[in-house]
Amino acid sequence: MIPVKLSALGVYLPTQVMTNHEIAKIVDTSDEWIRTRTGIIERRIASSEESTSTLATAAAKQVLDKRGIESLEVEMILVATMMPDTPFPSVACQVQDNIGALNAFAFDISAACSGFVYGLETAAQFIKTGTVRNALVIGAEVLSRCIDWQDRSTCVLFGDGAGAVLLESAQEENCFLASVLRADGSGKHLLYMPAGGTTLPTSIQTVENRQHFLKMNGGELFQLVVPMVCDSITDTCKKANISIEDIQLIVPHQANIHIIEEVAVYLEIPFERFMCNLYKYGNTSAASIPLALFDAVQEGKIVTGDYVMMIGFGAGLTCGASLIRWDKSFVC
Ligand code: ACO
Repeated sequence: MIPVKLSALGVYLPTQVMTNHEIAKIVDTSDEWIRTRTGIIERRIASSEESTSTLATAAAKQVLDKRGIESLEVEMILVATMMPDTPFPSVACQVQDNIGALNAFAFDISAACSGFVYGLETAAQFIKTGTVRNALVIGAEVLSRCIDWQDRSTCVLFGDGAGAVLLESAQEENCFLASVLRADGSGKHLLYMPAGGTTLPTSIQTVENRQHFLKMNGGELFQLVVPMVCDSITDTCKKANISIEDIQLIVPHQANIHIIEEVAVYLEIPFERFMCNLYKYGNTSAASIPLALFDAVQEGKIVTGDYVMMIGFGAGLTCGASLIRWDKSFVC
């Protein structure tokens, strides 16, 4: 198997910031409720000129600039998203066109908040087998467009953003040490969009019934994801033959601060070893892990040689953990 490394990371965030106080002017909620129940203080909202593909493109361009390679050198593009510009074609194909990556094939991954980790592991397999030499993996979401701004139980949680990484074949040690990808479709009703697909095609009735918005049973989801996340972290460590104490930083999907706290308690890992930035971006689904990874690097929380565990979980239900060893050649 060919060794794989992460070589560069880029992000894009819309400039418009929406605070909890501003949401409290739209629905019956308060900064205090949102802050204490979720840990979120503000989130970014895409402008009307922006879409998932424009956010993804901006993050992808940043990666190529930082790494110093031409778009023609890119061989594979994966975009993880639950909110594409249109049901088809894929966001990945739009990114491919926007950046002029004429030699790359491209497709989207639909695994909600686990999408970035699913994408990383998929791309790593293509590189390990020698099918491609590099791959852009992007997590991008404009969730503000599928949120029901009349539903206080969901509209306070989500935000928009994008993060991208470049994976490349390496001469040295393999950075992708172990992973666990899981799915449990029996939980599909806990987080979904009822209409707009083949089950309930768009009609005047589906629009009037507000069935084109995200629906979530947050309480039940909370109970299910904590053990799912703990098991995935534990199993990934076993596969890599390391102990949980060896991990320097866990970069979890940023859904709710209390999910992260419960995982920390259950696994007996100090909370400080979890990267948390949801207070400023909310839940950005597939974008949350690369955005958190970016902040972790900027804040000096990761150094060469560190074991870093990324863990995503969300609609599907899906869950994905990926253990990497930080490489000195990485640019962020
Ligand atoms: N402001 C004020 N009150 C509110 C709000 C709000 N924004 N939202 C709900 N409430 C009320 C409810 O109506 C309820 O009132 P009641 O007791 O009078 O009926 C009360 O607050 C408690 O509601 P709960 O839903 O029980 O609140 P909870 O503490 O469970 O927090 C939350 C809800 C934040 C959604 C939490 O359950 C959660 O984060 N769950 C996990 C979500 C998750 O795992 N996401 C990951 C996947 S995301 C993805 O894949 C895209």
